[in-house]
Amino acid sequence: AMIGKGNHRHFMMKEIAEQPAVMGETLNAFFNPKSRTITLPDLPFDWNDLPKMTIVACGTSFYAGMIAKYWFEGIADLNVEVDIASEFRYRQMPLKKGGLALFISQSGETADTLAALKYAKEHGQHIASIVNVEESSMGRESDFVFHTQAGPEIGVASTKAFTCQLVTLACIAIDAGVKRGIIDHEEEARLCAALSEVPARAAEILDSDENIKALAEAIFEARDVLYIGRGTGYPIALEGALKLKEISYIHAEGYAAGELKHGPIALIDELVPVIVVAPSDPYFEKTASNMQEVMARNARVIFLSDADGIKQLGGRALGSIELPKVDPFVAPILYAIPVQILAYHVAVLKGTDVDQPRNLAKSVTVE
Ligand code: G6P
Repeated sequence: AMIGKGNHRHFMMKEIAEQPAVMGETLNAFFNPKSRTITLPDLPFDWNDLPKMTIVACGTSFYAGMIAKYWFEGIADLNVEVDIASEFRYRQMPLKKGGLALFISQSGETADTLAALKYAKEHGQHIASIVNVEESSMGRESDFVFHTQAGPEIGVASTKAFTCQLVTLACIAIDAGVKRGIIDHEEEARLCAALSEVPARAAEILDSDENIKALAEAIFEARDVLYIGRGTGYPIALEGALKLKEISYIHAEGYAAGELKHGPIALIDELVPVIVVAPSDPYFEKTASNMQEVMARNARVIFLSDADGIKQLGGRALGSIELPKVDPFVAPILYAIPVQILAYHVAVLKGTDVDQPRNLAKSVTVE
């Protein structure tokens, strides 16, 4: 069937707006909101036997993998390596037999990711993939496929596929944590409850559209934009910068906030807006002090936090985007949304081809 834009000007905004619904559907495939338990089908490996887990992907899907690394390490005590497919496939990485290799891809067809999958298969790994498209090469080559329920994604810059990958990865991480005896059922229930709130909280974020648009107006003429965050906020900073450069062609970089002083702070002046990803979590104070450092150098800061964070620090920023206060475990899933919307509005102001940015393809099936 032909897919339309509904009442949206671009597929990208339509797909951003679909996130509460499709994340809900994806969650329902992997957990039971009533019993607050994860309900993954039986996997063809034992979480307790894995020497290591290797996550491989490209682009936005790679950032989903980076976030998952924090989750698998933190709640499942698993050793996780995460890599970009184009590096992994040529790196001659030693892989101990019986490990788990997980591939993340919207399309299931990205050439580098598929080649990396074959490499891992040849090296005796259990092969799992997280794919959005129903029928795909990666799906066929995998021992196990987790299907995200994002529906067809038309905009070249990935949005809803990314947040559906994240909710899927969160469910898998909880499952691993329970099976490995790292978290008990009470903790599982708590994390599941936090996840079950995500669709409704995401819908609230969509209501900040006007505020985010006003902030886009304040920064769209910048030549460079810096995004900073810590913990799972770091991959969100990377993803925010990627979204902006993909569709607005503004040079943007994502940095771990703690690395600022090792380079990027040299670039900061009143011309470089800095987007600070800072949910109330154990990193908040550290990120806040990095924000003070860039403000002391006259950076114009856009501060992404919840009511508590904004009360504490929002006054000094150029502007703030208030997000719902949630369990830090699910924060990156929600903080993905305002960075998508900000990039979208900047691109619209610049008049670029939002859904089909120059030089980019939806699916990179050749090397
Ligand atoms: C291209 C797309 C990106 C996507 C990446 C990986 O670069 O423009 O949006 O994140 O490929 O694609 P995949 O289908 O493997 O997730």
